[in-house]
Amino acid sequence: MNKQRKVALSGDRPTGPLHIGHYVGSLKNRVELQKNLDLFVMIADVQGIASSAGQPKELRDNVLQVTLDYLAVGIDPSLCTIFIQSMVPEIAELTIYYLNLVTVARLQRNPTIKEESKQKGYGSNIPAGFLIHPVNQAADITIFKADVVPVGQDQVPLIEQTIEIVRSFNRIYGEVLTEPQAMVPKDGARLTGIDGKAKMSKSLGNALYLGEAPEAITKKVMSMYTDPKHIHVTDPGTVEGNVVFAYLDIFDPNKAEVEALKDHYRRGGLGDTVIKKRLDGVLQEFLAPIRKRREDYAKDPAAVMDIVRKGTEKARMVASTTLASVRRVMNIDYFQQK
Ligand code: TRP
Repeated sequence: MNKQRKVALSGDRPTGPLHIGHYVGSLKNRVELQKNLDLFVMIADVQGIASSAGQPKELRDNVLQVTLDYLAVGIDPSLCTIFIQSMVPEIAELTIYYLNLVTVARLQRNPTIKEESKQKGYGSNIPAGFLIHPVNQAADITIFKADVVPVGQDQVPLIEQTIEIVRSFNRIYGEVLTEPQAMVPKDGARLTGIDGKAKMSKSLGNALYLGEAPEAITKKVMSMYTDPKHIHVTDPGTVEGNVVFAYLDIFDPNKAEVEALKDHYRRGGLGDTVIKKRLDGVLQEFLAPIRKRREDYAKDPAAVMDIVRKGTEKARMVASTTLASVRRVMNIDYFQQK
């Protein structure tokens, strides 16, 4: 591997089509990074199994949906490597070795795991496969010697745990693993859902999807959470926590006009419909080319899967090289002369 260029790796669980929260959280960074770094983009189906147990058809369909979203936003297979996690079994093997470097207690304390366990209502019945996601993720990242991991804010505790694993592995066996760094976007790392309550997520039903139809987008924008105390147009309104303004801050290219609208809204006299219509226009403009590219690729699913197959072959070559050096330092490369 050409180590002159830095390596970046990121991925998504194929739990459904991707939304604009994924876009601002990490897809956008990836589109930039692929120009100057060796970027690996992973469809994390092994992690997806935790959420799709018993729904194998859905999981498989979602792999295609996620790939379409990648291609639609401009992740370019001629510049980066798109691959499927489970088709690189070296990652699973590395996960097993790393499991000896963490404790169950540390995994249970991981904030990302804690938060999602709560959301899923696992209580004390956490599936072991889910609990070890941070270890699996450490294997994903380190098997490609990733220096940079573009992710949303919610993933940062997972990268922190990867760093711990790297340090203890390197201390015990020798310096073979690269310590990664999380790359979190400054604004919009946590895009709230259209209800303003939590982060945007499929399971909460508050997401705007990258491939969603124009009418559906309009309908969702019109139902967005604004300021519940802003009842009459003349009432002074609150901008903080107002989802419409939060999205305008991120997506509206005209920052000066947005600031002027905020002032007007605070003073009173600016109706919710006006700002919602503006946001609808901004989002439609942003999503139109993405939707178009997505539809074009969707016409030939076999060609799309072929892109992923080629990427997976390449990813596997890189992964097996790292795994070989891991086995060597662990002294379990039995058939090599020492
Ligand atoms: N956990 C990530 C998510 O929920 C997906 C993921 C798996 C990932 N492995 C990764 C992200 C490695 C970045 C790097 O979306």
